[in-house]
Amino acid sequence: MTNRYSRRAMLKTTGAGVALLTVPVFARRARAGTASSSNAFAVPPLDRGKRLGGRVTFALTLQRGESSFFPGTRTPTLGINAAYSGPVLRARRGDEVILRVKNEIGEESVIHWHGFRVPAAMDGGPHQAFADGKSSTSRFQIRQRGSTCWYHSHQHEQTGPQVYRGLAGMFIVDDDEIESLDLPARYGVDDIPVIIQDRDFNADGSFRYVRTMQERMLGKHGSTVLVNGVVSPILRAESTLLRLRLMNGSNARIYNLAFDDGREFQVVASDGGLLAQAATVRQLKLGPGERAEVVVDVADRKEVVLRSLRGATGGGGCRMGAMAFDRTLDIMTIDARDAETSAHRRPRQLIGPALLKPDDAAVTRSIRLSMGMMGGGMDRGMRGRGRRGGRMGGGAFTINGRTFDMNRVDFSARRDVPELWVVSNDSAMPHPFHVHNTQFQILDSDGRRVVAQEAGLKDTVLVNPQETVRLLMVFRDYSDPDLPYMYHCHNLEHEDQGMMGQFTVV
Ligand code: C2O
Ligand code: CU
Ligand code: CU
Repeated sequence: MTNRYSRRAMLKTTGAGVALLTVPVFARRARAGTASSSNAFAVPPLDRGKRLGGRVTFALTLQRGESSFFPGTRTPTLGINAAYSGPVLRARRGDEVILRVKNEIGEESVIHWHGFRVPAAMDGGPHQAFADGKSSTSRFQIRQRGSTCWYHSHQHEQTGPQVYRGLAGMFIVDDDEIESLDLPARYGVDDIPVIIQDRDFNADGSFRYVRTMQERMLGKHGSTVLVNGVVSPILRAESTLLRLRLMNGSNARIYNLAFDDGREFQVVASDGGLLAQAATVRQLKLGPGERAEVVVDVADRKEVVLRSLRGATGGGGCRMGAMAFDRTLDIMTIDARDAETSAHRRPRQLIGPALLKPDDAAVTRSIRLSMGMMGGGMDRGMRGRGRRGGRMGGGAFTINGRTFDMNRVDFSARRDVPELWVVSNDSAMPHPFHVHNTQFQILDSDGRRVVAQEAGLKDTVLVNPQETVRLLMVFRDYSDPDLPYMYHCHNLEHEDQGMMGQFTVV
């Protein structure tokens, strides 16, 4: 392992309360076992930016690098201030953040702030792309609840490959409500980012991206699981109560997370922040783009494996070969032998968001996610370069019958006017549906009330085959008559092939 990440980010506080960051100390704690099960857990460095009062400036460079995921191998990668992936950015509700992004990856790119309410010009969507050698700045006030969000490439038709190579990271928003609760909150000690990504490798060590028609249709699934850039790591728990900030940063894989001993754990937050009450579960499904904060009790001081169980692809059985990628995969091991007794208790009562009522919705929209059949215009390679290469999917991936077009705005929403979106999936595989610039509520799915862990705010929701979900949302604060936001499937291969639309807020 190279020292991409520090074992624990060191926090240095100046007199002005300015937090500067990152002292990389990568302690490799190899243990007996196979190469894929002996890696020390890595905590990404924390980046709190440079703070001047309520204004926080982040300097982010998109760069090329080389990483070693297995002993003796080298993988060309992309990263943000690192060889692979990026730091965990952190700011507070109310802060004005200034995110300066410099592009040094040798091709056009753009970074999107996933889960944030932002002016359209600051969203980091495909319209804000900028060339290699250039910089771009997103500036906005954080006006949403504390939550675990993220940031990643949103390059037109290249989001899949750029994220796969490493252009993604976590972005934590803090607020008073969260801090008023008795939740584990020591970064890297008992409050731990867990960015889950799956990858395949070529014999020469390079990442193997989409090769086959099946991968184009189902999205890129890999057989190696990385957590914070490390292959199936072991976390030496330092505390008996752990808060894990789970983030599915994978291109296409849906995880059905559970511990190997079947133990219960508590979900305390979803994409948009705290739930009203902790939801106790034994399994948690997480589609690409989704996050969940969970609290795990390891006071029995055992070694437990967090894994993804079969059945993650949900509904629909063996259609379209979707099950080809639906397998049991070990994510990470938690070794709690040396854990110190936590001062925190298992969470119960939390602080839920203010919710809209269905009657508040002044507008209803129907959104239909569809896939063409295998072979429908799938002749062009995924490596086709953006605008020059033209559309890759040939019309196979649609929303309301249309593939994405940069020059077509699909509709306009009114600022501050609640909307009801009826999202249906008439294809044979699940789609993680994501909307920019908002955190929505899932009203119901096929008429059934949602489970407790999905009763909070979300920005991405898995829509199973033949399922219809109803979402309540509102776009607050910002309007722009010209620049659109995106809504799309967060299976990045589907997105790149056109399962995306655009809306403006006026
Ligand atoms: Cu996380 Cu439009 O994306
Ligand atoms: Cu987004
Ligand atoms: Cu999809």
